[in-house]
Amino acid sequence: MKGNVADRVVLTIDGREIGAKQGDRLLWVALDHDINIPNLCAMREADLPFGGCRLCFVEIDGRRAPVTACSQPVENGMVVYTDTPKVKQLRRTAFELLLSHHHLDCARCPKNKKCELQRIAAHQGFKLKLQRLRRIPRDLPMDSSHPLFSYDPNKCVLCGKCVWVCQRHGVGAIDFASRGLETRISTFDNVPLVQAKCDSCLECVQVCPVGSLVAKDGQACAGVGR
Ligand code: FES
Repeated sequence: MKGNVADRVVLTIDGREIGAKQGDRLLWVALDHDINIPNLCAMREADLPFGGCRLCFVEIDGRRAPVTACSQPVENGMVVYTDTPKVKQLRRTAFELLLSHHHLDCARCPKNKKCELQRIAAHQGFKLKLQRLRRIPRDLPMDSSHPLFSYDPNKCVLCGKCVWVCQRHGVGAIDFASRGLETRISTFDNVPLVQAKCDSCLECVQVCPVGSLVAKDGQACAGVGR
């Protein structure tokens, strides 16, 4: 067993007893033990979870309502369920909300078959089309001004990963702009990417879970932070 014994906790996830470090976030503890909890916005290195996608709900014994696993620190004796009917219902709704403002064009998307939405849908048994919600029309201009990558705001799921890595990188070329249904990722003053203070590290492209930020040489790959 690694670490100080006093720092260790034992919890149960889906009937499995698991040892973990006190204070670790439940999402990462579960994933590290091959217990799948869908997630789109969590970054392992981030001190504070963003908590935007709402896909990572779980139920915990003794809690009145489900909690997001990315924000929940593990506690000794905690009993967690990752696949209850309530959790599935919440995840389904959260997933459909993401789809409602995501331009679904999988066949022509450069991220086809590497998209996190596709992966989550396959794993959770969700359909990649709206069932109950209406599509939120979005027809924002694509930004292809940068020589190395392009940004399609109509596919952005507002997970915030690109903003986080850009700030961690010390650049801060992009951030959230506007509010509510108008929220989007933008450069300062909404200038084209090529005029922003981007240093072309392409970390934003690497963390984008969908086909919103895509390298022009086709090297779009999600994975950083998971
Ligand atoms: S991963 Fe927990 S809210 Fe997105």
